[in-house]
Amino acid sequence: MNTSQTSSPLAVRDPALTVQLESWKLMGEGVTLSEKKLKDMNGLFADEEARRLMDPEANVYKVQSYMPVAEGTPGGLFFGNTTVQPGKVRDEYFMTRGHIHSKARTAEYYWGIKGEGVLILMDVNRVTWAERVFPGSLHYIAGDVAHRLANSGLVPFTIGACWYSDAGHNYDEIERNGFSARLVEVGGVPKLVEGKL
Ligand code: PA5
Ligand code: NI
Repeated sequence: MNTSQTSSPLAVRDPALTVQLESWKLMGEGVTLSEKKLKDMNGLFADEEARRLMDPEANVYKVQSYMPVAEGTPGGLFFGNTTVQPGKVRDEYFMTRGHIHSKARTAEYYWGIKGEGVLILMDVNRVTWAERVFPGSLHYIAGDVAHRLANSGLVPFTIGACWYSDAGHNYDEIERNGFSARLVEVGGVPKLVEGKL
């Protein structure tokens, strides 16, 4: 039913947004896409030399977001998905930059959609732990916990996310000090390893 063209205030309108049920791809006006390539990830992987020798144009991850109110507006919700490509820099899995929310006490939900990966979490005391992410898994990220996704599989890894419109993304702490542990392949399996490597 497409009644969105009518001007009657009582008309039943089409929704502004739809998601493809299989992929959770967002479709509609106002959906934004941001992509990160290897060249955008300077200093984030343990082996910077190995990263520099790889194709700088290789896609590492992309994020679709729907932000119906201005960023910073209290009380709103943003919705999106992230797809991390399969790959490694030496033995470290492709991952997102990772961030903590600028505003404390703004939590977030992630859920697994496709592929498999790991959600790396770090608290304010720099204690890091990780949760396995798979289609159907649900992850509550507390408001003061830094978060990063890594693709530990062989196919693109997609998650959905819902976060507060005033949460903000603070990348400074992670860019400066990283997480206290990294997800690396050890003996063919993903392992969370403490330290800089
Ligand atoms: O809001 C979130 O936590 C996600 O949408 C992330 O922003 C997304 O996964 C990309 O990660 P990052 O922002 O750390 O580059
Ligand atoms: Ni977040």
